[in-house]
Amino acid sequence: MTVSSAPGKVYLFGEHAVVYGEPAVPCAIERRATVTVESRDDDRLRVDAEDLSLDGFTIEYGRGTDETPDVDVSESLIRAATGYIDASVEQVREATDSPNAGFDITVESDIPLGAGLGSSAAVTVAAIDAATRELGVSLPSDEIADRAYRAELEVQDGEASRADTFCSATGGAVRVEGDDCRAIEAPDLPIVVGFDGGAGDTGKLVAGVRTLREEYEFAADTVESIGDIVRQGERALAEGDIDELGKLMNFNHGLLEALGVSSRSLDNMVWAARDAGASGAKLTGAGGGGCIVALDPSDETETALRFTPGCEDTFRAELDTEGVREE
Ligand code: PMV
Repeated sequence: MTVSSAPGKVYLFGEHAVVYGEPAVPCAIERRATVTVESRDDDRLRVDAEDLSLDGFTIEYGRGTDETPDVDVSESLIRAATGYIDASVEQVREATDSPNAGFDITVESDIPLGAGLGSSAAVTVAAIDAATRELGVSLPSDEIADRAYRAELEVQDGEASRADTFCSATGGAVRVEGDDCRAIEAPDLPIVVGFDGGAGDTGKLVAGVRTLREEYEFAADTVESIGDIVRQGERALAEGDIDELGKLMNFNHGLLEALGVSSRSLDNMVWAARDAGASGAKLTGAGGGGCIVALDPSDETETALRFTPGCEDTFRAELDTEGVREE
C-alpha cells in the first residue's frame, strides 16, 4: 500500500488568460488530497472516494464501477472525478511500462470539488505519485507535473494549462507561462478563502471566454491586460507588498467579471471581503461559482464572510511550501 498527498491552490493572478499564453501565478495552500493505492492481481480499478467532503459538500459512492453513485453533487462532477483517476492510471501504466496494472484507489480530500482550489490537479498528482511508487518507480516532481497535465488535458478535452498541476506537484508559489513553469519566492500571505458551496464547469467557462475573445477584439485585449496585471503582480509579490497585491487582485477580478466568469455569489463574497478591509479579493480558478481568495491579516474578512448570504464556508489558508509528498 502506498500513500501520497498533494496540495490544492489559489490563483493570485492569471486564470483563464493563462490558457492563451499569458502568465499566471497560482500558490499552493495547506489543503490536501490524499490518495492511497494498492496493486491488484488483475487489470481492474476500484475507486473508493467515500469522504470527499468539506462542510455540507459530500460525495459518496461505493466500490464497483457499475454501481450508481449515491451522491448529493451533480453526476457530471462524479464522472469528472473518476475521469481524472482513469486518466492518471493511464499515465502510470505508461510511465512504469505496466500496461496491465490494476489498482484499488482510495481518495480523501479536504479541497472542495470543482471550486477553483485545484482539487482535480491535487488528486491527479497524488494518484500518479502513489501508483508509480506502488509499482517501484519514483518519478521526479516535474515528470509527475507533466503527466498530471497530460491526464487533465485528456479529461478536459484539450483545454488545460500547466498551472494547477505544476503548482500542486511543486508546492509554494509558481509562475506558469505556456510550457515554462517555475517556482518563485513568495512571502507569507494572509490568505482567506470564501466558498459558496457550489462549483463551476471549467470546460464551459473556458469555452465561453474563447468565444468572447473570438467575437470581440476588446475581450482579447482584456485577456492581454490580465497578463499585464500578472507581470506587475509578480513584482509586488517579490517585494512582499500586500497592499499592491490586493489592488491588483481587485483589478484582476474586475476583468474576469467582464469576461463573464464571475457569479452573483462570488461577487457578493468579493465585496464582503473588500468592505471588511481586505487588501483585495478575487475569484479563484475557473469561476462560475466556488471560491474567492482575499488577503487580510486580520479576522475581519473571515467574520464578514461568515455572515455573507451565499457564503457557505470560509477559512484561512496558509501557503504550502511542500508539493506532492509521500505519506
Ligand atoms: O477551477 P480550476 O482550479 O480548475 O482552474 C481553472 C483555471 C483555468 O485557467 C480557467 C483553466 C486552466 O486549465 O488553466
